[in-house]
Amino acid sequence: MLMLYYRLWDVHDVAALFCFLLYMCQRAGAISIESPDHSLTRSVQEDVFFSVDVACNCTPTIQWTFMSSSVSRAIGIWRPGVFTNVTADYSSRVEAHDNGSMGLSDLRLQDTGYYVLTVTDELGGSSKDVGFVLKVNEVLYEDLQYLSVSALALACLAGLLMLAMWLLNKAYGKIVAWRRRKEMPENDTTELQRL
Ligand SMILES: *[C@@H]1O[C@H](CO)[C@@H](O)[C@H](O)[C@H]1NC(C)=O
Ligand SMILES: *[C@@H]1O[C@H](CO)[C@@H](O)[C@H](O)[C@H]1NC(C)=O
Repeated sequence: MLMLYYRLWDVHDVAALFCFLLYMCQRAGAISIESPDHSLTRSVQEDVFFSVDVACNCTPTIQWTFMSSSVSRAIGIWRPGVFTNVTADYSSRVEAHDNGSMGLSDLRLQDTGYYVLTVTDELGGSSKDVGFVLKVNEVLYEDLQYLSVSALALACLAGLLMLAMWLLNKAYGKIVAWRRRKEMPENDTTELQRL
């Protein structure tokens, strides 16, 4: 009876130890991705920063992919301190950070879509994804405001020009009339003198 009791304990101990080791192993290989904001809205020509903090007891491989209803394309893949490979289409606009974050500048309308970050621990054989939604808006409001302001400025300018032309016309008419009036008596006197 006592023997059996001890053997049961042993089994429990071994099982507990096994579970503990498994838990530790999993923890060691576990990838965690912290990201404050998964849904972002920007305007055309603005910049966006996909802020994440990748934690892993490994050297993770960071991979960003763009997806929309019609396309799926690789943006870049990097392993902090080892290599950085950004796709040619994005090379001038993407900024790769060691914590997994990615900055994308000079946004276009076509940048609207899903951005998927895949973090892979190649040794541990595990990987994890997070998705972000980016909406890029046209700067319609500012355009309209700009247009209306320029239209108003042009209208004012046109009004001023018309006023100036009208005034000049009047002044010219007056000057001509005044000259005529001034010349008339002179003519008269010269004519009189000649006579
Ligand atoms: C990741 O790193 C960048 C630049 O070093 C920093 O601006 C950003 O806040 C970091 N993100 C997080 C979630 O820690
Ligand atoms: C970078 O990635 C592209 C495709 O994603 C691949 O064709 C190219 O060989 C890679 N370059 C380097 C230096 O790893």
